[in-house]
Amino acid sequence: MCGIVGIVGHQPVSERLVDALKRLEYRGYDSAGVATIHDGALDRRRAEGKLFNLEARLKEEPLAGTIGIAHTRWATHGAPTERNAHPHFTDGIAVVHNGIIENFAEVKDELSAAGAAFQTETDTEVVAQLLAKYRRDGMGRREAMHAMLRRVRGAYALAVLFEDDPSTIMAARNGPPLAIGHGNGEMFLGSDAIALAPFTNDITYLNDGDWAVVGKTGAHIFDIDGNVVTRPRHVSTAAAYMVDKGNHRHFMEKEIYEQPEVIAHALGHYVNFIQNRVTPLGDGIDFAKVPSLAISACGTAYLAGLIGKYWFERYARLPVEIDVASEFRYREIPLSPQSAALFISQSGETADTLASLRYCKEHGLKIGAVVNARESTIARESDAVFPILAGPEIGVASTKAFTCQLAVLAALAIGAGRARGTVSEEEEQALVHSLAEMPRIMGEVLNSIQPKIEHLSRELSKCRDVLYLGRGTSFPLAMEGALKLKEISYIHAEGYAAGELKHGPIALIDENMPVIVIAPHDRFFDKTVSNMQEVAARGGRIILITDARGAAVSTLDTMHTIVLPEVDEIIAPMIFSLPVQLLAYHTAVFMGTDVDQPRNLAKSVTVE
Ligand code: M6R
Repeated sequence: MCGIVGIVGHQPVSERLVDALKRLEYRGYDSAGVATIHDGALDRRRAEGKLFNLEARLKEEPLAGTIGIAHTRWATHGAPTERNAHPHFTDGIAVVHNGIIENFAEVKDELSAAGAAFQTETDTEVVAQLLAKYRRDGMGRREAMHAMLRRVRGAYALAVLFEDDPSTIMAARNGPPLAIGHGNGEMFLGSDAIALAPFTNDITYLNDGDWAVVGKTGAHIFDIDGNVVTRPRHVSTAAAYMVDKGNHRHFMEKEIYEQPEVIAHALGHYVNFIQNRVTPLGDGIDFAKVPSLAISACGTAYLAGLIGKYWFERYARLPVEIDVASEFRYREIPLSPQSAALFISQSGETADTLASLRYCKEHGLKIGAVVNARESTIARESDAVFPILAGPEIGVASTKAFTCQLAVLAALAIGAGRARGTVSEEEEQALVHSLAEMPRIMGEVLNSIQPKIEHLSRELSKCRDVLYLGRGTSFPLAMEGALKLKEISYIHAEGYAAGELKHGPIALIDENMPVIVIAPHDRFFDKTVSNMQEVAARGGRIILITDARGAAVSTLDTMHTIVLPEVDEIIAPMIFSLPVQLLAYHTAVFMGTDVDQPRNLAKSVTVE
């Protein structure tokens, strides 16, 4: 989390730095700041809260200079105040940082004992203080930078200005991504290529352990031992990812309504709609031979993986080990090098997911990435990349990335089933035919359910807690519904397997507790109805999301029933996602929360 940018050039930079920060605001929006060198002096402007506060500050007091660095913060150490906002200044050195310096307390104690006066509560300030100390000790700028990098431990993308060198930015990466952009007589730094898209598409990504000295006409890159290294230049397609809200109130709303189109696009990559066949999956992972599959991801991507597990096990008879990446990476899971692993991530930069990927790589597994950002670190470090082609997702709450992840996982599971001989040609054609129907059905659902959802959301917005229940693939979807509602409306919500109700959560049921039951008329329907009876018997208020057949046979007195078309089991999770997403969205709108940038969150979680 946190976004950093830098420009060294020949034209004023502060406005362009803020413009680039706007494209990085998804990485954090607690505070922001910009620093430049002008007439041999460092200066900075910082502001608490969102970027418009920094813009207002810069309007009152502009910053001149043709070299500068800037930062948008997601607070880890120290409250999101102006004092803790980056850039941090110490003795003519300015630093912006994305990541966590894990040994900051130890370094801080050591420097404080030697007389350093810390001005902030951040871990980042030790970087500036260490650099200042090494300069006082007589080291040159590069030497000080190298010594500092060898002293700090943790995750970082860093950009540093030295007041006594107004023509160079120093940069370093270990963990969070950092891209160098090559311009015409100007050079750029950014947490991703989208930040730099209006300036250049000529991008070099730093590897972990790399550090760089970036001047107006180029960059020298070194590894952690100080050896000169060369990193390839890529032509970035990030410019295509610059989008606006169109006629929608929020990016989240736009992204929900884009789903029929983006799912069709994603599916087109994986299936042949004319023959109703899955397109051969490429040679990165041989699904016919792998004895098992490991899946790891975080948040919504993890829940997509959980639904994927049902499919890989059912259709491909492939055992799946799945866990949230923050647990997976430390569980010391015994893994067979003959197996394959899939990592699911919209951003492709999630720190825990990346660490799990590297764990599996070390154990010799073939690595597949189900990602949206094709230029991301997770994509670059994988043997096979399965793009979800959802287009840019700006809303912090994941919507279209989730359903596109599901569409890709469904196609992969069917393809794996064919490769393993567990899905016949006829079954493949029937399943792919169902997938092909999905965009049309999604469009119909989106066109019809809004009034009902809005009405219901008004009621939900008055609740303190909400329970979501489901069985089979509707169970991860219940968890996704709860995650969506809590992250944007701040209403407490939990998702449970309906069969788990009696093992604890039923104690919560009373007349104030809405229970949202996701129950297409599938092989689990009757069992889920029994669970609903248990809720009803205790005065719970049931909101049933089902299909036409489920609604026809259910005799329960529900508070509301949302009726969707009857669909094949494999596409039900995607279709049933729509009311779940819209319920969260409209509830948050009624509550008046910041839907696209909910409090305390960031879109890309690059620290553990
Ligand atoms: O970029 P990723 O898909 O790796 O992100 C994973 C989670 O941080 C993300 O899905 C998060 O849970 C969303 N805010 C949920 O809407």
